Amino acid sequence: MSSFPSVLESIDDLNKNQIDLLISLAHRYKELNNSPVNSFEKTPIVATNFLENSTRTKHSFAIAIQKLGAIHLEFNAETSSLKKGESLEETLLTLHYQGVDACVIRTNISHQFHEFKKSPPIKIINGGDGTNEHPTQALLDLFTFKNYFDGVDKLKGKTITIIGDIRHSRVSHSLMKLLPQYGMKIILCGPNNFLPEEKQAEGIVINQNRDEALKDSDLVYMLRIQNERHSQSNSKEPFSLSDYISNYGVHIDTIKKLKITPPIFHPGPCNIGVELDQALVKSNLYMGYEQVVNSIPMRMAILHAILNNNDHNIGKINGEKIKFSAN
Ligand code: CP
Repeated sequence: MSSFPSVLESIDDLNKNQIDLLISLAHRYKELNNSPVNSFEKTPIVATNFLENSTRTKHSFAIAIQKLGAIHLEFNAETSSLKKGESLEETLLTLHYQGVDACVIRTNISHQFHEFKKSPPIKIINGGDGTNEHPTQALLDLFTFKNYFDGVDKLKGKTITIIGDIRHSRVSHSLMKLLPQYGMKIILCGPNNFLPEEKQAEGIVINQNRDEALKDSDLVYMLRIQNERHSQSNSKEPFSLSDYISNYGVHIDTIKKLKITPPIFHPGPCNIGVELDQALVKSNLYMGYEQVVNSIPMRMAILHAILNNNDHNIGKINGEKIKFSAN
């Protein structure tokens, strides 16, 4: 297996074997639940640096770091020397010389970590960069889908419909790279100014009719309107929230009309009353909290792989080599 990347910016930074190993590791960490784990020879230090708001990613990495027995350094951007004009690179080099092994970073600047790939100041895990990618969210989603369908091989041929603001969503960009590798088909559904501008890869189609798209779905993945990123977009199309809710919101009644009711996923944060209604979020079709549960073992797996890279401990938990099977 080739080395895990020092900068995990994109799903493209991982090969299929590495993704399968992450699924196996996450599976084992989930089985171990709250039992103590020993995954490292030397206790690593991991910083989290959230330059943009977060609830799920920030806290699940913090919990994953602590569950792995690593030391967590919560970097406070507001009180840091970034505010005195220090660059992100200088900041990361400083953390490196302080003994920090890796840093999870969220930023509103797309591709901000790309320049670090040639000569990484520290190991970097992308916790979401602008509209570009959110690879760890896509990986935990894949793990959740695999658990839902009882095996990664069962995902082949399944159709997922992604509804909402696909163009500005970093999660959708990572999912579109990841899910076709497991044979999943993707339908994109949303108004013109929320659809991707670029041509789609094979296996990805657009259907702007929500009800038609839902009929063909084995899973549905809802996205929030990314209002904070619309200033970066050049779209000038008029937008009516009430039309959007009628045409692209999914309600319990929308789903109950279907012959087969698909599970509903959402990476969060969810704007209840816009993309989903309260009754659907409270129903047993809603899988958003399952994604939150699975975020911890998957982020433990990602930290394990990146921190143990090139080490004989990779793939070992509590001294035992885990069974390598993505199923
Ligand atoms: N899914 C996700 O990235 O949520 P947060 O913005 O709360 O981290």
